[in-house]
Amino acid sequence: MQAQILVTGPAERPVFHLTNGQISYIIGITERAAIPEQLYFGPAIRPQDSYDFLIDRENRNGVLLFAQDPASSLDYLSQEYPSYGHSDFRQPALQLTYPQGDQVTLLSYVSHRILSHKDPLPGLPASFGQAPGDTAVLELQLKDAGSGVRVTLQYAVFADVAAVTRSARLEQTGPETVWIDRAMSLALDLPDHDYELIHFYGGWAHEMNLERQPLQHGIYQVSSLRGVTSAVQNPLIALARPRADEFQGQVLGFNLLYSGNFLSQTETALSGTTRVLLGIHPDLFRWELKPGQSFQTPEAVMVYSQTGLNGMSQAFHDFYRRHLIRRPAGKALSPVLLNSWEGCYFNFDQDRLVSMAKAARDMGIDLFVLDDGWFGHRDDDTTSLGDWRPDRRKLPEGISGLSRRIHALDLQFGLWIEPEMVNPGTPIWEAHPDWVIRVPGKSASPSRNQYVLDMGRPEVVDNLFDQLCRVLDDAGVDYIKWDMNRHLSELYSHALPAGRQREMSHRYCLGVYQLYERLLARYPDILFESCSSGGQRFDAGMLYYAPQAWTSDNTDAVARLKIQYGTSMGYPLAAMGAHVSAVPNHQTGRVSSLALRSTVASFGTFGYELDPARLSAAEKAQIRLDIARFKKLQPILATGCFYRLISPFDQPDFCAWMAVSKDKRQAYIAAFRLLKVMGQERVRLPLAGLDPALLYEVRGPWQSGTPRYGDNLMAAGLILAGNKHDPNRQPDGQQGDFAVYTFTLEALAQT
Ligand code: DGJ
Repeated sequence: MQAQILVTGPAERPVFHLTNGQISYIIGITERAAIPEQLYFGPAIRPQDSYDFLIDRENRNGVLLFAQDPASSLDYLSQEYPSYGHSDFRQPALQLTYPQGDQVTLLSYVSHRILSHKDPLPGLPASFGQAPGDTAVLELQLKDAGSGVRVTLQYAVFADVAAVTRSARLEQTGPETVWIDRAMSLALDLPDHDYELIHFYGGWAHEMNLERQPLQHGIYQVSSLRGVTSAVQNPLIALARPRADEFQGQVLGFNLLYSGNFLSQTETALSGTTRVLLGIHPDLFRWELKPGQSFQTPEAVMVYSQTGLNGMSQAFHDFYRRHLIRRPAGKALSPVLLNSWEGCYFNFDQDRLVSMAKAARDMGIDLFVLDDGWFGHRDDDTTSLGDWRPDRRKLPEGISGLSRRIHALDLQFGLWIEPEMVNPGTPIWEAHPDWVIRVPGKSASPSRNQYVLDMGRPEVVDNLFDQLCRVLDDAGVDYIKWDMNRHLSELYSHALPAGRQREMSHRYCLGVYQLYERLLARYPDILFESCSSGGQRFDAGMLYYAPQAWTSDNTDAVARLKIQYGTSMGYPLAAMGAHVSAVPNHQTGRVSSLALRSTVASFGTFGYELDPARLSAAEKAQIRLDIARFKKLQPILATGCFYRLISPFDQPDFCAWMAVSKDKRQAYIAAFRLLKVMGQERVRLPLAGLDPALLYEVRGPWQSGTPRYGDNLMAAGLILAGNKHDPNRQPDGQQGDFAVYTFTLEALAQT
């Protein structure tokens, strides 16, 4: 079924039904004051001429919008874009300050537009349609009678995924300046609070840990005020029915397409309803809106699943892969890469890099990436950020000379940059002290010895663009890793007057997006990977510019099980940077088998981050086989359905997941047993997502060779033997601690 927006009801009180056959989202307009009212979001319901049965007008009294109308308290109305100031005392989506100092806004419906295409949002990431008819867009125009402020709410529904996107645009059509104190991207009032909130916390090298807790009355905030989304909390949240698990039950997922300060919030109110808000964090934010000016919020997305958390994740994955991520033409699948960082850190010269690249090429790697250390005099992390001239001591032929040598090996060439940062002593630092974020006369806090450039200033973006073009124009770079290694503190922009300082965090984010957009326009063939000390900026906004993101600086395969498991909740495998690194692991000191490291990384972009000179001949031979195997499986992993089977958050010693091709004819399964505990071996692993009636050939350890039907594999499961220590039967990685078992399924031709 196509994406559709059906309009019923009288012209002054239309009802909008957004649907695609999987989900329905229904909006009404109240009979008095014409306030957009949330009527329904959930599984698709059949269109009808009237949805009056969804309207709740119980007399509840309280502070009333209209005298004598005990049903007119806004505190009980499910709204689409609640504003501050009248009788709704819940947290609003919109809060404005007017010239006389009051903050009272009431938005009423004026008109609407329905479009069959979706335009980009100015300066911000925005989802898009793939083909005519696959997207339907509703724009609701609202106005505040007293001030001339107009708000356009935009909704989009897509034919092929259970998702709705939201955003809001504000415009001052009146004669006076107003101030935006809060303009959220999404507000959703749900009729009850029988949900558990799932959210993700972490920090450097331990990102995306899952937490789940029942909603209780009051407010729960997931947020960042660090200038980047950060790993402390991710904007992704889910509301799951208490009995919903990975495979069944209702789950609503929400995410913001934004990379700066954010707020993802739930509020369970006096009426027992739940308000969800997502948007730019209102703390540290205030935007001046002069007559004639407009302000666009970032976009937010919500998905609906009746098949538990796996269903929610699959909806997010499909939405991002089809409607958000812009991959360079001809690069549908990510190249297998070797990144220089853990292999040689700052300690390299051209010869060393070329010999690493040669070894990489011989193992079947596609792309050689030179990480930090190639510019200025950067022999450690104390210097040179902001000075993007190649270091001729290390690279006598510059970046273009090195790139030529890498290309001559028939490899692609990639480069690391960290454009938003500056070290003291660099030309930018000396010439433009006012380009650095710090408060005049007050101390500035360093982090990793570096400071942040004020990306909200157009001249800073211009300077960085020019510097980078000088490197990239003739270098033939195929890939860029854009890093960002600190949070923003001592906020102050020398370019803004005192009264507008709270615009700077958002302006910073817009500047980052603008630099990305300009580089993408000039170098459309470059594949970008975003990074922020690992996964500190792994967000849906970044995916619009950089199709992949470095998931974590923790490359230990055991730690990665949790990190990648959590990340997969909201983000597709093909976006998750994942590398095989050396043992003992540089972050945890843990030693694990090559089989484990390779299998875990294959459920991500897959690459290597080690010095090939330290590999034995046997390891190199194994890596050659692993890469060849990954390339066969990559289409399933990158475009198929991902199922989490057993959670390492629930079972400390076990984790299992699988990817199934969209036509269900192929699957790849991996099961990991961390510690061998006698008597506690898990021996059956039921699968998911297969076609019950297809007969599959099963390849993997302990398989008898007898093909099995999908229903059989999903009900009876795979046998994970390996209980006995028998080196003759169990190859590397399938015995002792940190064991890994992989299986492939292929449907037989006649079924
Ligand atoms: C932090 C990143 O996460 C690492 O992968 C590496 O690129 C370093 N920065 C380089 O300084």
